[in-house]
Amino acid sequence: MSKILIEGNKRLSGEIRLQGAKNSVLPVLAGTILCGGECEIHNCPNLSDVNTSLKILSHLGCYCTKDGEVVTVNSNGINSFEIPDSLMREMRSSIVFLGAIVARMGKAVISSPGGCELGPRPIDLHLSSLEKLGVIIKEDHGFLYCEAPNGLKGTEIHLSFPSVGATENIILAAALARGTTVIHNAAKEPEVSDLADFLNSAGAKICGCGSDTIEIHGVKSLHGAKHSIIPDRIAAVTYMAASAVTGGDIIIKNAMPSHLMSVLSVFKEAGCNVTADARSIRIKRDGELLRVPTIRTLVYPAFPTDAGPIVIAMLSLAQGTTVFVENIFENRYKYTEELKRLGAKIKTEGKVAVVEGVKKFSAACCECTDLRGGAALVVAALATEGVTEISKIEHILRGYDDITGNINILGGKAWIEH
Ligand code: UD1
Repeated sequence: MSKILIEGNKRLSGEIRLQGAKNSVLPVLAGTILCGGECEIHNCPNLSDVNTSLKILSHLGCYCTKDGEVVTVNSNGINSFEIPDSLMREMRSSIVFLGAIVARMGKAVISSPGGCELGPRPIDLHLSSLEKLGVIIKEDHGFLYCEAPNGLKGTEIHLSFPSVGATENIILAAALARGTTVIHNAAKEPEVSDLADFLNSAGAKICGCGSDTIEIHGVKSLHGAKHSIIPDRIAAVTYMAASAVTGGDIIIKNAMPSHLMSVLSVFKEAGCNVTADARSIRIKRDGELLRVPTIRTLVYPAFPTDAGPIVIAMLSLAQGTTVFVENIFENRYKYTEELKRLGAKIKTEGKVAVVEGVKKFSAACCECTDLRGGAALVVAALATEGVTEISKIEHILRGYDDITGNINILGGKAWIEH
């Protein structure tokens, strides 16, 4: 089992180029199923979740290639509508393939993604929305058998919560449906807009993304397209926190600060000097890290749930106590037990974490409990004295493209041991 080792207490400085967004590339790859021609996707991060998506696409009969940051998918020869259980288990977000497979093939069989490390992750909104579009769904022994005997038909869908995944699944299914679909209370996350931009460049007619009402005018077919994935806003937060905890001064190129407004203000309040232009962020910290007023995670454009663990790692080293409220996922604080091994003082109860700043961390062995919890450990390890050993790094590799390489470019010392 591989480990990341980090020799901490090294001030980070210099410049890195930010990876493409994990949460964009996966739905976009699912979207290539609809296209039927060759799609060329640029700025693809090198992640295990991307490799799993390509395995799913190949299994379905698509022809896929990967050359650095460019992935091509040709779904012309798609001949299957089933995702094997083993691949579903590798990547929980594979649920987003459901809408695309049903739209293209008229049916789909996948195993139910079940619970996960962040607590229960229900898919009821995905399923009830697809049913409204004309999909008949039967659950049997952990499998979902989906069929649209009369094709998909546009309709009005009111989401009870603006779920990112459900919004994406509806967009994918409705792109090829007969007539118009309107999603009310849709997710406004930039990754939803990126998916729509890709599909529109392939001939879809989707408008309203970024607002809470999205209209999808179904078209008969899509064609191949070229698309570049937006920058990863959560990876940006990770490198910003890495700079902050080491008293660093770094520039993150290829970032999109406009996607990070709620987070940038937290870093400023914590005493960091943050400057941004359209495509880069500079973050510098000279003085002490400071506590910040209560942070609450909410849907975009509010503070993102995925940035929570990373920012909590940073605020564990601030002067004073910060209160954090996690409103999206029920069981997101498992990683705090691992941060405590490095010396963090965090109390959690239900949705709330009380983070009491400490002066320093010290090295220890710790283990990733989930992707962003793992990123929090990396950030913390950069500020420890001695060498911190982080195990179960397969979680980190799902979402970060060469995190150790980037740390080393910035003057830190991190390496992977197999
Ligand atoms: C969530 C994040 C997204 C992040 C992604 C990856 C939010 C709103 N969404 O998206 O920004 O990129 O994780 O970590 O912050 N829910 C249901 N039924 C459903 C679907 C969701 O009850 O069918 C609930 C979930 O339990 C959760 C909330 O809705 O409480 C948000 O879920 P959703 O946005 O769908 O999650 P992801 O798509 O995984």
